[in-house]
Parts: sequence; structure tokens; C-alpha cells
Amino acid sequence: MPRFAARRTVSETDWAGTQVRRVEPAPWPLFLRWWEDVWEPGQHVALIGPTGQGKSTFAVGVLRLRKWVIALDAKGGDDTLAASGFKPIKAWPPPSKIRDEIAEGKPARLIMTGTTRTKRDMGKLVALMHEAIEGARAEGGWTVYADEFQILADRRMFGLDVPVEQMLISARSAGSSVVTSFQAPAWVPKAGTRQASFIVMLKTGDVGMIQKVSEASGRSWQELRDALGELPKYYVLVIPQDIHAPMVCTKADKVA
Ligand SMILES: Nc1ncnc2c1ncn2[C@@H]1O[C@H](COP(=O)(O)OP(=O)(O)OP(=O)(O)O)[C@@H](O)[C@H]1O
Ligand SMILES: [Mg+2]
Repeated sequence: MPRFAARRTVSETDWAGTQVRRVEPAPWPLFLRWWEDVWEPGQHVALIGPTGQGKSTFAVGVLRLRKWVIALDAKGGDDTLAASGFKPIKAWPPPSKIRDEIAEGKPARLIMTGTTRTKRDMGKLVALMHEAIEGARAEGGWTVYADEFQILADRRMFGLDVPVEQMLISARSAGSSVVTSFQAPAWVPKAGTRQASFIVMLKTGDVGMIQKVSEASGRSWQELRDALGELPKYYVLVIPQDIHAPMVCTKADKVA
């Protein structure tokens, strides 16, 4: 493991005389070098945070480390995803040119996106995403990014909860990773956080949310509350499922 001096938790006494545990922020390039080493194929990541805090920005940043990526854009035209350079595709399996490139070992960064204004458009996008998830699961080696998982999982919307959950459960052995992003842990099936090797949280004071993550990650909620309370805007707290591994704090580079 590379040296990672910034990966530290320090205890301090705040103005009120209480002990506050603070996680030292790591510069993004240093964080990425460490993350590349610890984020193994088949390991999942759950990103949890309120809207506009930088979930998609963090996801796009870490997905650069993966060669074969499928992004599911539940919002249809999310600005951050649109700026990320992913190639929109309209069918699964992808066109033969892309398949040939993959066979040659070249990277592929694909996005399933589209309008969802009419029932027909919605139906087409749902079917496309469904096929892509199943296809990626069968092939192995992909990293699937389920942006706004609570919308993808909602049965009144995309209804993709079952295929994504199946992927979360079975993908490990196939070396496929799933990165899910959602706004609160209560909104999604438990598998989203339970199966995650890393939970990545953005700043929140929501005690219920901190409690849920504390249960899912085996960390004390006071420790999480302290660390999250100290987070500046756009910073994330990376919580490894391995409770012996320290928590890490960093801020992704803005997507151009
Ligand atoms: N690390 C960052 N550095 C600088 N600006 C950032 C960073 N992360 C996010 N931003 C700013 O905040 C905006 C929203 O970021 P992003 O789309 O990543 O958030 P989100 O949590 O995915 O929000 P949403 O819930 O709307 O999808 C970006 O357009 C960008 O301007
Ligand atoms: Mg987003």
C-alpha cells in the first residue's frame, strides 16, 4: 500500500472543551493513488448525500480509474454526467465498433441517458438500462454507476431495484463493481449500503442518516457525526467497510 500520510484521525478539544475527532483531508491526487490500490474489482461503493453536494462529481472522478464503465443517468441529462465525456448509447449490446474496441482492450465509458417525457420514451430507457445491467452482470469486468439510485429503484419510476440488487449481490465474483448514489439511506433497499465495501458520505447533519450509516458500517455514530460535522463543502468522507481501516476525507476535482 502506498504511503498515505494524510489518512489520519486526530482528536482535538474544541472551544466547548469536548473531544472532536477530525479526519485530516487528503489532496485529491494522493487520494486517487490510494483508492486505486484499495478499490478492487468487484467491490461496490455507496455514495450518500443531499442534492448538489458533489456526489456525481466524486463518482465521475473515481470512475476514471476503471476501464469499462456504464453510467445509468436516471435524471436524464444530468449536467455533471453530461460533462464527464461518457458516450451515450442507444442499444445493448453496444454497436460493433465499441465491442471491437473493448475486445482490443481499449476502454469504454458508456452512458444510458435519454428523455423520459412520454411513457414510450420512459419505457425504452428502462428496457435499455435493464438490458445493460443484465449484460454487464453476465459479462463481468464492468463498473456500473447507478446515479440517483432512489429514482432507478423506485417502482413507480424505473423499477430497476431488482436487477441492480441482483448485480450488487452477484457481481463480486465476476469482478464487476457497482457505484450507487442516493440522497438518503432510508430510500433504498438495504443491499445498497450492506453490499458496499466503501460508503462515501457528503456533509450532513441528519442524525437519522448518520445513524443508518453507522449501523451499516459498524462505526460509532459519534465518530461519524464528528467527522461529518467538520466536512467543508464538496468534501467527502470515505468509510471503509473494514472497520480496522481508517476513514479518509478528500475533495474531488470539479468536472470541466
Ligand atoms: N468537488 C467539487 N469542486 C468544485 N465544485 C464542485 C465539486 N463538486 C460539486 N461541485 C459543484 O456542485 C455542482 C453539483 O455537483 P454534483 O452534480 O456532483 O452534485 P450532486 O450531489 O450529484 O447533485 P445532484 O443531486 O444535483 O445530482 C457542480 O456543478 C459543481 O459546480
Ligand atoms: Mg448527481
